Amino acid sequence: MTMCDRNVWVCDSFEGLPPPSGEYPADAASAFHDDSELAVSLDQVRANFESYGLLDDQVRFAKGWFRDTMPLIDVGEIAVLRLDGDMYESTIDPLNYLYDRAVSGGWIVVDDYRLLDCCQAAVHDFASSRGFEPDLVSIDHVGVYWRKA
Ligand SMILES: C[S@@+](CC[C@H](N)C(=O)[O-])C[C@H]1O[C@@H](n2cnc3c(N)ncnc32)[C@H](O)[C@@H]1O
Repeated sequence: MTMCDRNVWVCDSFEGLPPPSGEYPADAASAFHDDSELAVSLDQVRANFESYGLLDDQVRFAKGWFRDTMPLIDVGEIAVLRLDGDMYESTIDPLNYLYDRAVSGGWIVVDDYRLLDCCQAAVHDFASSRGFEPDLVSIDHVGVYWRKA
């Protein structure tokens, strides 16, 4: 794989965040699903990529809830796994489904780690279930990343 034949996978409902499923207590009070500003359509996102000259057939879209799309998409190896789902479910589902696709030396980015307790809890629950402690590096006052061993 070279720098030029990589894909960018964009996974999103393009309809906003899901209501709490009941599966994760950390999401019980989540009301992000009521926030229409977080529902940005696939057409709008495509147009945004296009406006930067970045839309081509290596940008792949997986529309739907993470729990439905991520088990099915064939993403191959992941160099950068960037999470910005804002809920426990929306942080732990990508980790559960895609972390194993990240290569050793790959990067995991969590946008709202220091802003949202549920994101932080999801990262630590996932890491402890796998028996590692992420060596977190701050990006700004909220975002963090770590490098997969
Ligand atoms: C805070 S927004 C961030 C959007 C984008 N990363 C940005 O910076 O503009 C969260 C995005 O994640 C999507 N999302 C959150 N949880 C999701 C889930 N469980 N399944 C599918 N999409 C989800 C929402 O639709 C929304 O577009």
